[in-house]
Amino acid sequence: MPWSVTPEYELLLKLNNTIIRNRTRESLFGAIASEIKKIFHYDRCSINLYDPATQSLSYFATADGIRPDGITCRTSRPLPKGSVANRVIETRKPVIIEDLSKDPGLTTADTMLMEGLTCTMAFPLIIRDDFLGSFHVAFKKQPEDMEDLMSFLEDISVQITIAVDNMLSYEKLKKINEKLEQQKQYVLRKIDRLDKDFYFTSDLMTEIMNDLDLVANSDTSVFITGETGTGKGHIARHIHNLSHRREQLFVKVNCAALAPTLIESELFGHAKGSFTGAAARRTGRFEMADGGTVFLDEIGELPLQSQAKLLQVLEDKSFERVGESRPISVDFRVISATNQDLKKKMREQKFRRDLYYRLNTIHIRLPPLREHPEDIPLLIRCFTTRFAERMKKPEATYSPSAIDELCRYRWPGNVREVQNIVERLMIHRGGHMIMETDIRQLLHSVEPGEAPATEDKFLTRAEMEKRHIEKALAACNGAVGGKHGAARLLGIPRSTLQYRMKKLGIST
Ligand SMILES: Nc1ncnc2c1ncn2[C@@H]1O[C@H](COP(=O)(O)OP(=O)(O)OP(=O)(O)O)[C@@H](O)[C@H]1O
Ligand SMILES: [Mg+2]
Repeated sequence: MPWSVTPEYELLLKLNNTIIRNRTRESLFGAIASEIKKIFHYDRCSINLYDPATQSLSYFATADGIRPDGITCRTSRPLPKGSVANRVIETRKPVIIEDLSKDPGLTTADTMLMEGLTCTMAFPLIIRDDFLGSFHVAFKKQPEDMEDLMSFLEDISVQITIAVDNMLSYEKLKKINEKLEQQKQYVLRKIDRLDKDFYFTSDLMTEIMNDLDLVANSDTSVFITGETGTGKGHIARHIHNLSHRREQLFVKVNCAALAPTLIESELFGHAKGSFTGAAARRTGRFEMADGGTVFLDEIGELPLQSQAKLLQVLEDKSFERVGESRPISVDFRVISATNQDLKKKMREQKFRRDLYYRLNTIHIRLPPLREHPEDIPLLIRCFTTRFAERMKKPEATYSPSAIDELCRYRWPGNVREVQNIVERLMIHRGGHMIMETDIRQLLHSVEPGEAPATEDKFLTRAEMEKRHIEKALAACNGAVGGKHGAARLLGIPRSTLQYRMKKLGIST
């Protein structure tokens, strides 16, 4: 049947529509093949994908017309040397074989001839210099006007390339999306577990925890204060998990660990090339938290200059990336925390009063452990069970007098310190009964000459923190970072510890 060039543009348009509409390889290929078939007759039509890494071919979708035996579109096969596809890959040009029986170099000719095919054409599918594969049509009887047909198919193969490329990208994105969804479900399951891992029984803590439901459901700023290790970070995440924002990100910003020169680009992002070192565009933490929560930890450490900028962002709920002038509007909730005395910082003009009031709509004060010692036995029990499970060791048990001794201790490092002590006891005494003397030795094995911890009430907060850090450093033989370092022991990032050490004048 003679074919006509006139519907060419119509076909190109239809192919375009096909590219947009179809969501599976089979339906896309089926639609392409049926449009082509309306213009001219072929006996076989297929698209090969080529993988240069493994030098193998696979069918993009099941071939139309005469089909080879035993080859499915998903299985890949080594690229046969001397095949039509091989010639297209090597030359990156169309290959036309008018009479298969007269091409002795073509190793796959016999198979095609056996199926009755005598003539074939193949076109490379190349996009942005990437060789995706080849588009093949084959005939039992050589068609008329081969030259015109060839240039027509060459045009069409450009559309097919776009269609194939689109579909491959779509599949890749779909896979990434599915993986992200799985990871999200995993994280959400972990969140549920995280909430169960917070232990308390005292009236003081119960009252605070009961209020959190109400706090979580409003969108107002929450300001958490409390000594180190009282659970501020944990509570911030818990509020996010209870809120309607729980499916979006909880983005933590450790204000103490941010390099002062990079704070703004870290928080608000930057445009590519906006300063030396800005090699690519960066999304800031506030933008990442869209729909979720920004947790500004150790807010007291934020330099004055950045405090002004932060206040403006909190008021406007919009900001610009460094080096850009387009404002970005973001929907986030702010939770901030500090273990510092911000009122004192305000008096010293080191913290902006207006920012303080902006952050402090709801204030949660987490009490130090010495104000709710009735939680200590529960914490010890729960941490012991947790570490025994993790270490796959039998639990350590505590004599009543050992528990009394633990309850009398002042716990300057609060719950974090309980956690660390229990971990240490589990490492050394898992499966054993722990006695009062063991506890005394452990808690008071401080440097000679140091006042016993029960006298800590005469120390200033900074002195207490300094002692606490020095004790951790001594226990870690001076190592700050790493698996056996003090940062890990104290449960804080290495950068935070280094910052605190500098501030308190501690050297290793
Ligand atoms: N009631 C609790 N039950 C179980 N774990 C707790 C509890 N309180 C705190 N923790 C744990 O103690 C550790 C310290 O808590 P967190 O990091 O939240 O303290 P923080 O108040 O933020 O301290 P810092 O001021 O030093 O940053 C964490 O591992 C946290 O999970
Ligand atoms: Mg913290």
